[in-house]
Amino acid sequence: MLIVLNNKSNLTKEEYVLYLEKIKAIVSKHELVVCPSMPYLSIFNISNIKLGSQDVSEKEGGAYTGETSALQLKSLNISYCLVGHSERRAYFNETPDIIKIKIKNLLKQNIIPILCVGETKEEKQKGKTKELLTSQINYILSTLSEEEKEKIIIAYEPIWSIGTGIIPTIDDIDDVLNSIREILPKNKLLYGGSINEENVASLQESKMINGYLLGGLSLKPEKLKIFTQILENKQN
Ligand code: PGA
Repeated sequence: MLIVLNNKSNLTKEEYVLYLEKIKAIVSKHELVVCPSMPYLSIFNISNIKLGSQDVSEKEGGAYTGETSALQLKSLNISYCLVGHSERRAYFNETPDIIKIKIKNLLKQNIIPILCVGETKEEKQKGKTKELLTSQINYILSTLSEEEKEKIIIAYEPIWSIGTGIIPTIDDIDDVLNSIREILPKNKLLYGGSINEENVASLQESKMINGYLLGGLSLKPEKLKIFTQILENKQN
């Protein structure tokens, strides 16, 4: 399993240093990836946990004030990068065309893109989820070679589930992941949205989930520890 921690715009530097100390103590056979805020990427110091970025510039570098390029991320030993998170789409106008460019830039630097996709509540009610997500994924990945496509990780995060405490049924998650699996047979598929140490056991009933993307839970090291223990126990 791949467990990705999306810290979003949380924690001051002092809080982050303390956070790292607590995260360090989590022992897991699963692959853990921390995605802190940009300024803290360079002070990350845990050898058994991978480092991810929450975003990357669509520009390759140069005179673009405030932007961080894929090449710069690579120089900080970043292994993974989120792209197309629903918050970036909603608040920063990240369009499928921008996401396409970001993915290209990341692949060029050998950073694995984690492409986030998900439907709104209205889209779900209209029964449009699978059609919407697969056509969006097909469009975003359309210019990549087969070899490049296989490197992309897809994180299915229903927008109505992020930060709300509501998660879809396992059948609904598997149904959506199955439709993604049909177009991307070899890729890792993650689920994200309101995961906590209480609902993880039920999520483990899924036959399709290869990992998790955690927002709120990523900020609570004690609960995260319980979460990883549940994962270990269940799989042994
Ligand atoms: P959440 O966030 O776990 O707090 O719902 C998930 C995400 O936004 O990636």
